[in-house]
Amino acid sequence: MKTIPATLSVILATVLLAGTSAAEGLLERGTYLMESVAACPVCHTPWEEDGQIADMHLAGGLMFEEDDYTAYASNITPDPETGIGNWTDEQIIVAIREGKRPDGSIIGPAMPIRLYRGLSDRDVQAIVAYLRSIPPIKNEVATSEYEIDLPADYGPPLGEVPEVAYYDLGAYGEYLAGPIANCTYCHTPVEDGWRDYENMLGAGGHEMEGPWGETEARNITPDWGTGLGRWNSRKMRTAITKGLRPDGDELGPPMPYERYDTMDRQDLSAILAYVRSLPQIENDTD
Ligand code: HEC
Ligand code: HEC
Repeated sequence: MKTIPATLSVILATVLLAGTSAAEGLLERGTYLMESVAACPVCHTPWEEDGQIADMHLAGGLMFEEDDYTAYASNITPDPETGIGNWTDEQIIVAIREGKRPDGSIIGPAMPIRLYRGLSDRDVQAIVAYLRSIPPIKNEVATSEYEIDLPADYGPPLGEVPEVAYYDLGAYGEYLAGPIANCTYCHTPVEDGWRDYENMLGAGGHEMEGPWGETEARNITPDWGTGLGRWNSRKMRTAITKGLRPDGDELGPPMPYERYDTMDRQDLSAILAYVRSLPQIENDTD
């Protein structure tokens, strides 16, 4: 009997070493997510006309003006007065995944909470480890105003959210394109204030206004005529990581092409596999 634990620990060590995502540390994982693939900085770092303001990393203030609300991205640096420096890890996790602040107020649809309910325990902890590691920035942000009623909650309190196996390309791609990179958030149009994932997943058409001007998210479903049905993988990669369309046109903000260019190639392949599997929806967004 004595040898069993030893054998087990050898097996465990082998399993851990085989999976890079399991073997890397929390802060390392958080840094990768937050500086490459995750969408949080797109919204939480303010923009000027020609790009994001580097020394305001995650300090908030970007305005989202929609038919049903005017929202302002919060300061999520560790500044104790204007940021989230006084929140516990658990409070930050509940805010991100369940849309509830420590004072009980609800975060509205300007932040993709419905997607973030799917963030794994490990990844949300990794993101919090990263948020703790960045410099605090003092930046008072205005309060968001919603003309729609916000829900009392986004569902029952979350239990354990396990990791999605990275070797399951389709499932991991869905996880990356949803809760992590938010491809589906930006590329799904809005109905009565909320993303219409049920009927228009990936069909594009939502106009995004900001300091960069105005851009319309495009149809990324595999529809032949109005979506990406004719694009091969190379064309999709070039659009996502270089911001260049097959016809040579440059794509504009707020999609973070440069950050996606630093994405793990395996992760990008998983995202492509998922995007190709979306139901085809005809919706002209050119
Ligand atoms: C599409 C834009 C968008 C994305 C992406 C986004 N957020 Fe937010 N977030 C917001 C907005 C806007 C608010 C304020 C919403 C409101 O007041 O109702 C907010 C609020 C928050 C809050 C509450 C802070 C406070 O003081 O009120 C936290 C924490 C937060 N976001 C963290 C994150 C993290 C971590 C990520 C990435 C996993 C993320 N957000 C991604 C737009 C976004
Ligand atoms: C913050 C919002 C946002 C996020 C996040 C985002 N996109 Fe985009 N995307 C856009 C906008 C807006 C455009 C159109 C830009 C333009 O026309 O100048 C676009 C364009 C594209 C295009 C070009 C399509 C065409 O017909 O030219 C592809 C492909 C694409 N996105 C895929 C993705 C994928 C895959 C992800 C996730 C890894 C993603 N996007 C994340 C907003 C976003």
